[in-house]
Amino acid sequence: MIVNTELESKGNLFPSNIIDFKKDVDTLYFTTENEVILQLTVVRDSVLRFRYTTTGKFENDFSYAITKYASRGYNKLEIEDLKTHYKISTSKLICHIDKDTLKVQLFDAADGLAISQDEIGFHWEESYEHGGNIVKMSKVSNDGESYFGLGDKPNHLNLKGKRYENWVTDSYAYGKDTDPIYKAIPFYTGLHHNRAYGIFFDNSFRSFFDFAHERRNVTSFWAQGGEMNYYFIYGPQMTEVVESYTDLTGKPHLLPPLWALGFHQCKWSYYPESKVKEITSTFRKLQIPCDAIYLDIDYMDGFRCFTWNKDYFPDPKRMVKELADDGFKTVAIIDPGIKIDKDYSVFKEALDNDYFCKRADGPYMKGKVWPGECYFPDYTKPEVRDWWSGLFKELIEDIGVKGVWNDMNEPAVMEVPNKTFPDDVRHDYDGNPCSHRKAHNIYGMQMARATYQGLKKFSYPKRPFVITRSAYSGTQRYTSTWTGDNVATWEHLWIANVQAQRMAMSGFSFAGSDIGGFAEQPQGELFTRWIQLGIFHPFFRVHSSGDHGDQEPWAFDTDVTDVVRKFIEIRYELLPYLYTAFWHYVEQGTPLLKSLVLYDQEDVQTHYRTDEFIFGNQILACPVLEPNAKGRRMYIPKGNWFNFWTDEVIKGGKEMWVDADIDSMPIFVKEGAIIPKYPKQQYVGEKQIESVILEAYFKTGKESSQLFDDAHDGYDYTKGRYSYRTFKLLGKSNELIIQQHKEGKFNASYKTFELRIHGLPFEIKEIQLDNVIIPLDHVKSNGISTMTIDKEFTELHLIGK
Ligand code: GLC
Repeated sequence: MIVNTELESKGNLFPSNIIDFKKDVDTLYFTTENEVILQLTVVRDSVLRFRYTTTGKFENDFSYAITKYASRGYNKLEIEDLKTHYKISTSKLICHIDKDTLKVQLFDAADGLAISQDEIGFHWEESYEHGGNIVKMSKVSNDGESYFGLGDKPNHLNLKGKRYENWVTDSYAYGKDTDPIYKAIPFYTGLHHNRAYGIFFDNSFRSFFDFAHERRNVTSFWAQGGEMNYYFIYGPQMTEVVESYTDLTGKPHLLPPLWALGFHQCKWSYYPESKVKEITSTFRKLQIPCDAIYLDIDYMDGFRCFTWNKDYFPDPKRMVKELADDGFKTVAIIDPGIKIDKDYSVFKEALDNDYFCKRADGPYMKGKVWPGECYFPDYTKPEVRDWWSGLFKELIEDIGVKGVWNDMNEPAVMEVPNKTFPDDVRHDYDGNPCSHRKAHNIYGMQMARATYQGLKKFSYPKRPFVITRSAYSGTQRYTSTWTGDNVATWEHLWIANVQAQRMAMSGFSFAGSDIGGFAEQPQGELFTRWIQLGIFHPFFRVHSSGDHGDQEPWAFDTDVTDVVRKFIEIRYELLPYLYTAFWHYVEQGTPLLKSLVLYDQEDVQTHYRTDEFIFGNQILACPVLEPNAKGRRMYIPKGNWFNFWTDEVIKGGKEMWVDADIDSMPIFVKEGAIIPKYPKQQYVGEKQIESVILEAYFKTGKESSQLFDDAHDGYDYTKGRYSYRTFKLLGKSNELIIQQHKEGKFNASYKTFELRIHGLPFEIKEIQLDNVIIPLDHVKSNGISTMTIDKEFTELHLIGK
């Protein structure tokens, strides 16, 4: 097996000189004497696709990752045939293709700075074992270059100096150096000289990335089959790179229902019904907000998907309804392995219709999972996905389950050394038949996609909610995800923080970890610190394997319960802020979490930071990752920041100590921000919102903030029934102006905003609301100036004495 790209390794083949050039609208073809063709497509001015064949002919062009909604179109495309190379210019990029070697160089069109250059470039090795090629690419690693991305790698955010593999793998109790784990997202961002670019290697075979590990000046990537097929995405801002990649591989097709952004409680497993009820009623009794309760595999009859254990759950429909009446949405697990059982209708149907995966020589792919011996649907076949979607009718439409959790979909197989299917298993791959070598990394994605389609159909007119463990690029279109079977250790709290940030910079923001740790049991302190981090993760769920004791917020001592409640309440207060950030993600692909490097790439201090991150656009958070801490040192990015707890203003651009006893954590708000908040609720929709709180943080200067709102579920927002408000804050030494701009057709039930101004540097002499003077006694002040204003206001003007 090929494990490196070294020039010295025997058998590498290279393109020879170009003998032919053709152009077909946005696509250019460069053919070499030895039948290599480079197909270069200008997707956009800043996005170029490079695709190579070594046989003079391309395979069918098919990708599960690229969305049909990806933006296309460019402003400029010029091609010059020069002595040594072809020069292709768009309005953002200049690309040189060397005539002798087919090597590629890319430059910023604005100032000519070299962004990326092939080192030995495209090369390949024939795979005599499997047929086809092992395809390879090597590029120069620039001075001071850093690398970010690749999905769920549980290691330092900056990938430089490391080598990684993409092969989705069931990884119980993985550690900081375990690679690969559950996801395969072959996309990274490179950053040097304050320019960021991305490379998305859209090849679903087992692939590898080497970031200046094997050789100090070289970054390379290769796959054990398929085509060298990658997209080069230029920024120069890292946020633009991530947004472009997300545009290409897809933003979530729908906003999640707002409840899905609330708190979720899970365990393997809550059963029987009385146990489930005991858990949910304890949440309500202790007044700890919670929106979702999970049923792990034991709800089924002998782990048969789409069945119920009637001893434990005699009347699921009634139970789900009673839970719903108490504000709980029920989420149920569904795995891919279908128990071999001739009396089981799902099995029979799939067998009769030939929906199961088969080995190369014809027998079914048989493997052991929870139910014992199973067969596995081939989700890469459209007909099988349709059938699978249809299976959700009873669970969703009739019983009323609100979300589905897809697990073990790498696919995980027990008692075999490679933990999955053997390589020879056949897949349809949407009419491009192939072996498991090609389909492995996308199998879980296609399962989640079929599940999503089922939920979409049967939850209608409500929005679907799906969670998956395995994922390939593009899976974010359909589902949320979690980081798999982690462990209750402080190191895993660090890992969870890195993984959520890394997923966000890999286009998949709707992610979170098993809070408290899946394996083993946390102490109350670790659990508390993990909840504190979790309130900032888009997917916010406690889960544990259960065989190590209880992990509910009350399973520790009452101090833990109180702090955990306080933090979950903060999450619920921040829901409109998070929902707005989610809207930006769904609309523009903007990551929900921004590592400091994404927030301020110009500041090189941020390139090696891992712990601090920005939640949305304006809240800076940093978890405490050690036991017995009274605070921690952290880096505050440039600009001025309000301490969330004390309102003390800190000037950033430096590392400093921040106090954070167990009932606190370092949280800061960017000056000028207007943060929308809801009142505390036990679950989404518990209360009719009478007034939305706007926490405004004074700034001398300008800052703009947004508030998105809609019905919190359903499809009306897709028809324009949403409201998008932009608040522009302008502060001067004795003046503050807040302007509101409104878009959209949705009218929320609340009538007013409760505006709370932090850090106002002057005493108010006069207040004008839409040019009308309002009495000063309208404002209450005890450090924070508070007033209630009509939600349709256009301009508020405070004048100082
Ligand atoms: C896998 C999942 C875990 C789940 C368990 C039982 O280990 O990762 O979350 O609880 O299976 O279904």
